[in-house]
Amino acid sequence: MSFSESDIKKALSFVIEPDLKKDIIELNLVSNIKLEENKISFDLQISNPAMHNKKRIIEACEIHLNRILKTSIDLDVNILAIPKPTEIPKSKNPLPNVKNIIAIASGKGGVGKSTVTANLAIALAQKGYKVGLVDADIYGPSMPLMFNVEHEKPQPVEKNGRNLITPVESYGVKILSIGFFADTNQAVVWRGPMATRALTQLFTEADWGELDYMLIDLPPGTGDIHLSLVQTVPVTGAIIVSTPQKVALIDARKAVGMFSLEQINVPILGMIENMAYFSPEELPDNKYYIFGQDGLKSLAQEQKLPLLGEIPLVQSIREAGDAGRPAILQETSTQATAFNAFAENVITEVANRNKKLDPTQKVTITNMDGCSTK
Ligand SMILES: Nc1ncnc2c1ncn2[C@@H]1O[C@H](COP(=O)(O)OP(=O)(O)O)[C@@H](O)[C@H]1O
Ligand SMILES: [Mg+2]
Repeated sequence: MSFSESDIKKALSFVIEPDLKKDIIELNLVSNIKLEENKISFDLQISNPAMHNKKRIIEACEIHLNRILKTSIDLDVNILAIPKPTEIPKSKNPLPNVKNIIAIASGKGGVGKSTVTANLAIALAQKGYKVGLVDADIYGPSMPLMFNVEHEKPQPVEKNGRNLITPVESYGVKILSIGFFADTNQAVVWRGPMATRALTQLFTEADWGELDYMLIDLPPGTGDIHLSLVQTVPVTGAIIVSTPQKVALIDARKAVGMFSLEQINVPILGMIENMAYFSPEELPDNKYYIFGQDGLKSLAQEQKLPLLGEIPLVQSIREAGDAGRPAILQETSTQATAFNAFAENVITEVANRNKKLDPTQKVTITNMDGCSTK
């Protein structure tokens, strides 16, 4: 015998894997080479081990071995399939019966995010949609008060062998809030993993049933809760709430930046201007732009985002919230009209988004580096 294993490899380096378009030695597809007299055997992995592919590649091996080794050989090739990369299971959507999940966010606190969310939820329910609301502002849950269900406790229910909690219902909206499980003072001390786990349970361990819209009232700012949210459920889109005030606009811009981050990647449906102008109850046609005018309009234009509405600053909006009867219920009032127009725009923008883009996938974050907004 006048040839070695390296001669065999040299010969086989002329054989090209048809799908991978590189030679089988370079691709490290040949193993277990055995040599006995002029009998050569080895294992060869190929990407598509269909019969004709096997035949062709064995022929190619034979031709090049005969050519390089300059002798007639007895060849035995054991063809194997290249193992497929272990398929990463698509992260399971814990809410397959919820059509649209909408996060309501603001950069700054106190801009009326919860007020806007509560009124939007009721407006959608009044239009006949099935609506759920998750109060994810675990540091300042306000939905129990706004929906006048402060003293209710979500009841346990067994569904398909799982112990779930039933959301509390008010004004046609299904609601869950950390506020139902801990008093507000207690919730304030929750941080990090504990807060995240509590929030996750509101989505995954509740009997939400079928919903057209699930609204999420996020805590202000750009923090852990936002990241944990996009890892828990596939968010359809986000709405940014801001007042026309400069400090609020600066933070609104940061919120836009956060949702656009590669690691978050949630489309923004649009912006809503709250406390756009002050209207005295007795002079509803008078508008006083006490926080400035057009600030959010220009930010929306700059970011190429729709402005979904303008909600006036009216005393009764505040009173209605505190009394647990959101202003949308004051039919025909200017404020109810403003909230209704906003809800219509939200419906339109969600539909537009669903036409243009694929459903958002839950985010799998393994490396949080670079996950900060400037
Ligand atoms: N358009 C408005 N007119 C009058 N008061 C409002 C309006 N929007 C919000 N408020 C009041 O401002 C305060 C802060 O609103 P809230 O919705 O709790 O803000 P956030 O959730 O952003 O912290 C509340 O007392 C609320 O009733
Ligand atoms: Mg709030």
